[in-house]
Amino acid sequence: MPPENLIDGRGIADQIHTETTLRVESLKARGIQPKLVFVRVGDDPASQVYVGMKERTSRRLGIESTTHVLPEQTAESELLALISRLNADPDTHGILVQAPLPNQIDAHRVFSAISPGKDVDGFHPVNVGKLLLGDSSGFVPCTPAGIHELLLRTNTRIEGSDVVVLGRGNIVGKPMAALLCQKSPRANATVTLCHSRSRTLKEHCQRADILIAAIGVARFVTRDLVKPGAVVIDVGVNRVSDPSAPNGSRLVGDVAFDEVQPIAGRITPNPGGVGPMTIAMLLSNTVRAAEALTR
Ligand code: GUN
Repeated sequence: MPPENLIDGRGIADQIHTETTLRVESLKARGIQPKLVFVRVGDDPASQVYVGMKERTSRRLGIESTTHVLPEQTAESELLALISRLNADPDTHGILVQAPLPNQIDAHRVFSAISPGKDVDGFHPVNVGKLLLGDSSGFVPCTPAGIHELLLRTNTRIEGSDVVVLGRGNIVGKPMAALLCQKSPRANATVTLCHSRSRTLKEHCQRADILIAAIGVARFVTRDLVKPGAVVIDVGVNRVSDPSAPNGSRLVGDVAFDEVQPIAGRITPNPGGVGPMTIAMLLSNTVRAAEALTR
């Protein structure tokens, strides 16, 4: 029997998939076939796995999808030219350029080149700005949006709570903090954003009602950092060596799950917590991009 305090990310993602599938059917009935285009540059093995999973799930929900795979040496100008073609293609509703990108390519320039209405990742400066302003017409990055849904759908009290976000990356930490501090009954949290240079990180964590770990360090959140009863969300995907594993390594989260789970109020398993939610929000965003054409 799994522990009772687990947050079932897979189950909640499936609920969202069911809702998304109905929206896809409604679009199709109106003659619109939602389409998501992935762009992957180089041979990063993790990116291959992630894009493959996103593509398969898109198809399962009735969303058309294709992946452009560009070689590692691709010039930034070539990638920008592809994005420009996809921006102009009326059949493409969402564009996702998988990060990380090779060094010769400026990711910021690439994300800024995607039309904001097709930016289902929510990385375009217009969408980042809308998130900060509390303007819900933009796209919210999928991992923070997924965590927000997990909290809402498990009736976790966010309003008035002390939330500590570990990690200040543009994909998770910063947008997560922006989402939860908004003036809204769905947010209204007191948010502290901690990072590698935080002097009193441990003390901040210890008073968190909701602790969100996106710091990219294997098993960083140990039991002594967690207030008993806190809700703990593990975003981390870290490869660590493990001689007993078939390929000599395995994936672990940012949370030392075995020691934190017994004292947490609720906790995400990893895998099976945040990951499925990221995909669910991506596909929901894609359908929203297509729905915008019907208004
Ligand atoms: N790499 C890791 N996470 C993400 C994500 O959410 N979107 C994209 N495009 N790349 C990523």
